[in-house]
Amino acid sequence: MLEIIDLHVRVGDSVVLKGFSLVIERGQVHAIMGPNGAGKSTLARVLSGDSSYEVISGQVRFDGKDILSLDTDERARLGIFMGFQYPIEIPGVTNLQLLLAAYRARQRDRKEEAITQDAFMEIVRGHLRAMNMEETVLAREVNVGFSGGEKKRNEILQMLLLRPALSVLDETDSGLDIDAIRVVAEGINRFRSPENSLLLITHYQRLLDYIRPDYVHVAMDGKIVHSGGAEVALRLEEKGYDWVEEELKCSLS
Ligand SMILES: Nc1ncnc2c1ncn2[C@@H]1O[C@H](COP(=O)(O)OP(=O)(O)O)[C@@H](O)[C@H]1O
Ligand SMILES: [Mg+2]
Repeated sequence: MLEIIDLHVRVGDSVVLKGFSLVIERGQVHAIMGPNGAGKSTLARVLSGDSSYEVISGQVRFDGKDILSLDTDERARLGIFMGFQYPIEIPGVTNLQLLLAAYRARQRDRKEEAITQDAFMEIVRGHLRAMNMEETVLAREVNVGFSGGEKKRNEILQMLLLRPALSVLDETDSGLDIDAIRVVAEGINRFRSPENSLLLITHYQRLLDYIRPDYVHVAMDGKIVHSGGAEVALRLEEKGYDWVEEELKCSLS
Protein backbone atom coordinates (compact mmCIF):
# COMPACT_ATOMS: atom_id res chain seq x y z
CA MET A 1 0.00 0.00 0.00
CA LEU A 2 2.87 2.39 0.84
CA GLU A 3 6.13 2.09 -1.07
CA ILE A 4 9.05 4.37 -0.26
CA ILE A 5 11.84 3.78 -2.73
CA ASP A 6 15.39 5.09 -2.35
CA LEU A 7 14.27 8.48 -1.06
CA HIS A 8 16.82 11.31 -0.87
CA VAL A 9 15.62 14.50 0.80
CA ARG A 10 17.28 17.84 1.45
CA VAL A 11 16.34 20.19 4.29
CA GLY A 12 17.98 23.57 4.24
CA ASP A 13 21.61 22.96 3.33
CA SER A 14 21.85 19.33 4.34
CA VAL A 15 20.73 16.05 2.83
CA VAL A 16 18.84 14.34 5.64
CA LEU A 17 17.33 11.26 3.99
CA LYS A 18 19.94 9.29 2.06
CA GLY A 19 18.36 6.32 0.36
CA PHE A 20 15.39 5.60 2.60
CA SER A 21 13.30 2.61 1.48
CA LEU A 22 10.32 0.96 3.16
CA VAL A 23 7.26 -1.02 2.04
CA ILE A 24 4.12 -1.28 4.19
CA GLU A 25 1.27 -3.58 3.17
CA ARG A 26 -2.36 -3.13 4.16
CA GLY A 27 -3.08 -4.25 7.72
CA GLN A 28 0.54 -4.12 8.84
CA VAL A 29 1.98 -2.17 11.75
CA HIS A 30 5.58 -1.00 11.28
CA ALA A 31 7.72 0.85 13.79
CA ILE A 32 10.71 3.02 12.96
CA MET A 33 13.13 3.58 15.79
CA GLY A 34 16.40 5.43 15.76
CA PRO A 35 18.56 7.98 17.53
CA ASN A 36 17.80 11.70 17.47
CA GLY A 37 18.63 13.27 14.15
CA ALA A 38 18.27 10.02 12.17
CA GLY A 39 15.67 11.63 9.91
CA LYS A 40 12.51 10.01 11.31
CA SER A 41 10.48 13.22 11.59
CA THR A 42 11.81 14.33 8.20
CA LEU A 43 10.30 11.19 6.69
CA ALA A 44 6.93 11.98 8.33
CA ARG A 45 7.08 15.56 7.00
CA VAL A 46 7.87 14.41 3.49
CA LEU A 47 5.00 11.91 3.57
CA SER A 48 2.68 14.70 4.72
CA GLY A 49 3.68 16.88 1.74
CA ASP A 50 5.53 19.64 3.59
CA SER A 51 7.07 21.76 0.82
CA SER A 52 10.08 22.89 2.87
CA TYR A 53 11.51 19.40 2.37
CA GLU A 54 13.02 18.96 -1.07
CA VAL A 55 12.87 15.48 -2.57
CA ILE A 56 16.07 15.12 -4.59
CA SER A 57 15.37 11.61 -5.85
CA GLY A 58 13.34 8.51 -5.08
CA GLN A 59 9.65 7.70 -5.08
CA VAL A 60 6.71 7.40 -2.73
CA ARG A 61 3.70 5.43 -3.95
CA PHE A 62 0.41 4.90 -2.18
CA ASP A 63 -1.82 2.18 -3.62
CA GLY A 64 0.43 2.30 -6.67
CA LYS A 65 -0.03 6.05 -7.16
CA ASP A 66 2.87 8.52 -7.02
CA ILE A 67 1.98 10.91 -4.20
CA LEU A 68 5.02 13.21 -4.17
CA SER A 69 3.34 15.57 -6.62
CA LEU A 70 0.14 15.77 -4.55
CA ASP A 71 -0.77 18.47 -2.03
CA THR A 72 -1.24 17.64 1.62
CA ASP A 73 -5.04 17.72 1.39
CA GLU A 74 -5.03 15.43 -1.64
CA ARG A 75 -2.92 12.95 0.30
CA ALA A 76 -5.33 13.17 3.23
CA ARG A 77 -8.18 12.44 0.81
CA LEU A 78 -6.43 9.24 -0.24
CA GLY A 79 -6.55 8.19 3.42
CA ILE A 80 -3.13 9.22 4.74
CA PHE A 81 -3.18 10.59 8.29
CA MET A 82 -0.35 12.27 10.20
CA GLY A 83 0.03 12.53 13.93
CA PHE A 84 2.80 15.02 14.57
CA GLN A 85 5.50 15.10 17.21
CA TYR A 86 4.38 18.63 18.06
CA PRO A 87 0.64 18.97 17.21
CA ILE A 88 -0.25 22.48 16.12
CA GLU A 89 -2.72 24.79 17.86
CA ILE A 90 -5.55 26.30 15.83
CA PRO A 91 -6.92 29.35 17.64
CA GLY A 92 -10.46 30.36 16.65
CA VAL A 93 -11.51 26.86 15.58
CA THR A 94 -13.08 24.54 18.12
CA ASN A 95 -12.27 20.85 18.29
CA LEU A 96 -15.89 20.03 17.41
CA GLN A 97 -15.82 22.27 14.32
CA LEU A 98 -12.58 20.71 13.11
CA LEU A 99 -13.64 17.12 13.78
CA LEU A 100 -17.08 17.50 12.21
CA ALA A 101 -15.70 19.27 9.12
CA ALA A 102 -12.99 16.64 8.66
CA TYR A 103 -15.47 13.82 9.20
CA ARG A 104 -17.91 15.22 6.64
CA ALA A 105 -15.09 15.77 4.13
CA ARG A 106 -14.13 12.10 4.51
CA GLN A 107 -17.78 11.18 3.98
CA ARG A 108 -17.91 13.22 0.77
CA ASP A 109 -14.81 11.41 -0.49
CA ARG A 110 -16.44 8.08 0.35
CA LYS A 111 -19.71 9.18 -1.29
CA GLU A 112 -21.53 8.73 2.02
CA GLU A 113 -24.47 10.86 3.14
CA ALA A 114 -23.50 13.71 5.52
CA ILE A 115 -23.94 12.76 9.15
CA THR A 116 -26.21 14.81 11.43
CA GLN A 117 -24.56 16.58 14.35
CA ASP A 118 -26.52 14.40 16.82
CA ALA A 119 -25.37 11.17 15.22
CA PHE A 120 -21.83 12.53 15.06
CA MET A 121 -21.94 13.40 18.77
CA GLU A 122 -22.88 9.79 19.58
CA ILE A 123 -19.80 8.51 17.72
CA VAL A 124 -17.49 11.13 19.24
CA ARG A 125 -18.72 10.40 22.77
CA GLY A 126 -17.86 6.73 22.35
CA HIS A 127 -14.29 7.58 21.30
CA LEU A 128 -13.93 10.21 24.05
CA ARG A 129 -14.91 7.69 26.71
CA ALA A 130 -12.45 5.16 25.33
CA MET A 131 -9.69 7.76 25.22
CA ASN A 132 -10.45 8.93 28.76
CA MET A 133 -11.17 12.46 27.51
CA GLU A 134 -13.72 14.94 28.83
CA GLU A 135 -16.52 16.04 26.51
CA THR A 136 -15.55 19.63 27.30
CA VAL A 137 -12.51 19.30 24.96
CA LEU A 138 -14.94 19.57 22.04
CA ALA A 139 -15.84 23.19 22.84
CA ARG A 140 -12.20 24.21 23.27
CA GLU A 141 -10.06 25.67 20.48
CA VAL A 142 -7.96 22.98 18.80
CA ASN A 143 -5.00 22.14 21.05
CA VAL A 144 -4.94 25.68 22.52
CA GLY A 145 -3.78 25.41 26.12
CA PHE A 146 -3.82 21.61 25.91
CA SER A 147 -1.12 19.77 27.82
CA GLY A 148 1.32 17.65 25.79
CA GLY A 149 -0.62 14.52 26.71
CA GLU A 150 -3.98 16.06 25.78
CA LYS A 151 -2.64 17.07 22.37
CA LYS A 152 -1.47 13.53 21.66
CA ARG A 153 -4.83 12.09 22.72
CA ASN A 154 -6.53 14.63 20.52
CA GLU A 155 -4.50 13.35 17.54
CA ILE A 156 -5.59 9.78 18.25
CA LEU A 157 -9.20 10.96 18.59
CA GLN A 158 -8.94 12.48 15.09
CA MET A 159 -7.50 9.22 13.77
CA LEU A 160 -10.26 7.10 15.34
CA LEU A 161 -12.92 9.35 13.80
CA LEU A 162 -11.40 9.63 10.33
CA ARG A 163 -10.44 5.94 9.99
CA PRO A 164 -7.50 6.62 7.65
CA ALA A 165 -6.05 3.80 5.54
CA LEU A 166 -2.54 4.73 6.66
CA SER A 167 -1.61 6.49 9.89
CA VAL A 168 1.86 7.86 10.45
CA LEU A 169 2.32 8.67 14.13
CA ASP A 170 5.49 10.58 15.00
CA GLU A 171 6.57 10.25 18.64
CA THR A 172 3.03 9.85 19.85
CA ASP A 173 4.44 8.52 23.11
CA SER A 174 6.88 11.35 23.87
CA GLY A 175 5.85 13.59 26.74
CA LEU A 176 3.24 11.12 27.96
CA ASP A 177 3.17 9.57 31.41
CA ILE A 178 2.68 5.84 31.62
CA ASP A 179 -1.11 5.98 32.12
CA ALA A 180 -1.52 8.24 29.10
CA ILE A 181 0.69 5.94 27.00
CA ARG A 182 -1.57 3.03 27.91
CA VAL A 183 -4.71 4.94 26.90
CA VAL A 184 -3.16 6.07 23.63
CA ALA A 185 -1.86 2.57 22.89
CA GLU A 186 -5.28 1.04 23.58
CA GLY A 187 -6.80 3.54 21.16
CA ILE A 188 -4.28 2.55 18.51
CA ASN A 189 -4.79 -1.16 19.17
CA ARG A 190 -8.56 -0.83 18.89
CA PHE A 191 -8.06 0.86 15.55
CA ARG A 192 -5.80 -1.90 14.21
CA SER A 193 -7.51 -3.94 11.49
CA PRO A 194 -6.76 -5.81 8.27
CA GLU A 195 -7.88 -2.63 6.44
CA ASN A 196 -5.59 -0.13 8.17
CA SER A 197 -1.83 0.28 8.20
CA LEU A 198 0.20 2.09 10.82
CA LEU A 199 3.68 3.54 10.86
CA LEU A 200 4.80 4.28 14.41
CA ILE A 201 7.85 6.49 14.75
CA THR A 202 9.34 6.33 18.18
CA HIS A 203 12.61 6.97 19.93
CA TYR A 204 11.85 4.73 22.90
CA GLN A 205 10.36 1.26 22.89
CA ARG A 206 7.89 2.02 25.74
CA LEU A 207 4.97 2.38 23.34
CA LEU A 208 5.89 -0.97 21.84
CA ASP A 209 5.31 -2.61 25.23
CA TYR A 210 1.62 -2.05 24.47
CA ILE A 211 1.50 -2.19 20.69
CA ARG A 212 3.20 -5.16 19.09
CA PRO A 213 4.39 -4.14 15.63
CA ASP A 214 4.74 -6.63 12.79
CA TYR A 215 8.08 -5.11 11.80
CA VAL A 216 10.63 -2.87 13.51
CA HIS A 217 13.15 -0.86 11.51
CA VAL A 218 16.16 0.98 12.83
CA ALA A 219 16.91 4.28 11.09
CA MET A 220 20.32 5.90 11.28
CA ASP A 221 21.80 8.74 9.29
CA GLY A 222 18.92 8.99 6.86
CA LYS A 223 18.15 5.40 6.04
CA ILE A 224 17.04 2.07 7.45
CA VAL A 225 20.04 0.08 8.60
CA HIS A 226 18.35 -2.88 10.24
CA SER A 227 14.89 -4.51 10.05
CA GLY A 228 13.30 -7.34 11.96
CA GLY A 229 10.29 -8.31 14.04
CA ALA A 230 9.07 -6.98 17.38
CA GLU A 231 12.12 -8.50 19.09
CA VAL A 232 14.31 -5.76 17.57
CA ALA A 233 12.69 -3.19 19.87
CA LEU A 234 13.55 -5.30 22.90
CA ARG A 235 17.16 -5.75 21.78
CA LEU A 236 17.43 -1.97 21.33
CA GLU A 237 16.02 -1.34 24.79
CA GLU A 238 18.51 -3.78 26.26
CA LYS A 239 21.62 -2.97 24.24
CA GLY A 240 21.04 0.54 22.87
CA TYR A 241 21.71 1.77 19.36
CA ASP A 242 25.41 0.87 19.67
CA TRP A 243 24.39 -2.72 19.14
CA VAL A 244 23.13 -1.99 15.62
CA GLU A 245 26.23 0.06 14.83
CA GLU A 246 28.48 -2.78 16.02
CA GLU A 247 26.51 -5.26 13.96
CA LEU A 248 26.78 -3.00 10.90
CA LYS A 249 30.54 -2.71 11.31
CA CYS A 250 30.80 -6.52 11.51
CA SER A 251 28.70 -7.03 8.40
CA LEU A 252 30.75 -4.48 6.47
CA SER A 253 34.17 -5.86 7.43
N1 LIG B 1 13.69 22.46 9.01
C1 LIG B 1 14.95 22.04 9.13
N2 LIG B 1 16.00 22.83 8.78
C2 LIG B 1 17.28 22.38 8.89
N3 LIG B 1 17.62 21.16 9.34
C3 LIG B 1 16.63 20.33 9.69
C4 LIG B 1 15.25 20.72 9.62
N4 LIG B 1 14.48 19.68 10.04
C5 LIG B 1 15.35 18.70 10.37
N5 LIG B 1 16.63 19.09 10.16
C6 LIG B 1 17.82 18.27 10.42
O1 LIG B 1 17.63 17.00 9.88
C7 LIG B 1 18.17 16.01 10.73
C8 LIG B 1 17.12 14.97 11.03
O2 LIG B 1 16.12 15.54 11.84
P1 LIG B 1 14.78 14.78 12.22
O3 LIG B 1 14.16 14.26 10.98
O4 LIG B 1 13.96 15.68 13.07
O5 LIG B 1 15.34 13.55 13.06
P2 LIG B 1 14.61 12.59 14.11
O6 LIG B 1 13.15 12.81 14.03
O7 LIG B 1 15.04 11.22 13.70
O8 LIG B 1 15.18 12.94 15.46
C9 LIG B 1 18.72 16.71 11.94
O9 LIG B 1 20.10 16.85 11.79
C10 LIG B 1 18.03 18.06 11.91
O10 LIG B 1 18.82 19.05 12.47
MG1 LIG C 1 11.66 13.34 15.44
